[in-house]
Amino acid sequence: MSLTGKKIILAVTGSIAAYKAPHFVRLLIKAGAEVQVLHTDAAAQFVSPLSLATVSGKPVYATAADGATWNNHVALGLWADAMVVAPCSANTLGKLANGLCDNILCAVYLSARCPVFIAPAMDEDMRKHPSTLANLNKLEAYGNRIIPTEYGALASGLTGDGRMAEPENMLHLLSTFFESISHRPLVGLKALVTAGPTYERIDPVRFIGNFSTGKMGMAIADALADKGAEVTLILGPVERRPDNKAVTVVNIESAQEMYESAMEAGKTAHIAVLSAAVADYKPATIAENKIKKNENDITILLTQTSDILAALGKIKQSWQTLIGFALETENEVENAAKKLNSKNADMIVLNSLMDAGAGFGHDTNRITLLLRNGSVTPLPLQSKKAAASAIVDKIIQLRHVEKTV
Ligand code: CTP
Repeated sequence: MSLTGKKIILAVTGSIAAYKAPHFVRLLIKAGAEVQVLHTDAAAQFVSPLSLATVSGKPVYATAADGATWNNHVALGLWADAMVVAPCSANTLGKLANGLCDNILCAVYLSARCPVFIAPAMDEDMRKHPSTLANLNKLEAYGNRIIPTEYGALASGLTGDGRMAEPENMLHLLSTFFESISHRPLVGLKALVTAGPTYERIDPVRFIGNFSTGKMGMAIADALADKGAEVTLILGPVERRPDNKAVTVVNIESAQEMYESAMEAGKTAHIAVLSAAVADYKPATIAENKIKKNENDITILLTQTSDILAALGKIKQSWQTLIGFALETENEVENAAKKLNSKNADMIVLNSLMDAGAGFGHDTNRITLLLRNGSVTPLPLQSKKAAASAIVDKIIQLRHVEKTV
């Protein structure tokens, strides 16, 4: 197991499991990591700061300032390749989940751009309390990785689930993580992709649809899953399925069904890519019986569907990345840039219908990527697979710069 060159912050809180912290530090250092220990005041009652400083070979930090020296929490948060809060008491769990910041540990956590691992340790009843579970869910939704507690003897004298994971197991998890992110940087993140057309029913046998085949969206779902994301693909009525079997497919028919599924999955998705060709209008009413032919022309009144991209843009959180598509036939870049702002997206993928080999049904596409910083990157005509991979690489780059992945 190797952590060669990795910079790890170990944040220790007040729990009996803190006595294992020096052993964990030794394991990390033996695996090649550089370790900076932080601890709360309560932690010092369970483990000696002197032991932690000795095994880590560095002074440990307990406060934001030591005398006249300020311990720069922002610099520490940027320095680390990973932060591990182990053991994490119920108290610190609550603070981290709610953004409280009354000690250096919380300040470093809030400043950290690196992946954060949280190893809870507490009595089983505390571990299972609804407020603890809610805090864990919240922290996970923010992109933190929870190290599951283990079963065994607890400090209370009871036996149950609540022990901090053994240091050897945490070391294994960290080294597997670093190995996997070198190829799969989206491990631990949820992604939502919409793809394909929608069908808007007119009567029991007819609908309004479009020529989308969902190929581009499916290639994006595959590329996200290949990079480790947990992908939910909300797919309109097409035959094709994604190649990556790990992608969860939700089949829908209408814009309204796509809207409902996307709003649900969008709550927890770190990344949302809306590539579906959603109908902008649907028949105001669906005829109960087949509309019969007669001598007269007929008119079908259409009403607007809900705009999924705009709706997700409205509720977007700082930890979420939202990507939309634009299909334009005139003033392409200008119109796409307008969509970027009006729908509060982080990137718009501009699709061209005007190029030979691009657009619906083709295996190739020519796209242009527009970002909020004003950058416009036209890409050459390429396979939809290659275009999907370019989109996903850009998403990874965006998240690396702007988000706490
Ligand atoms: N979109 C959506 N929900 C809709 C319509 C569109 O989520 N009801 C999304 C598409 O998936 C795409 C983006 O919005 O990511 C832009 O779609 P597009 O049809 O190009 O733009 P519209 O906003 O519908 O505007 P217009 O058709 O006038 O260009």
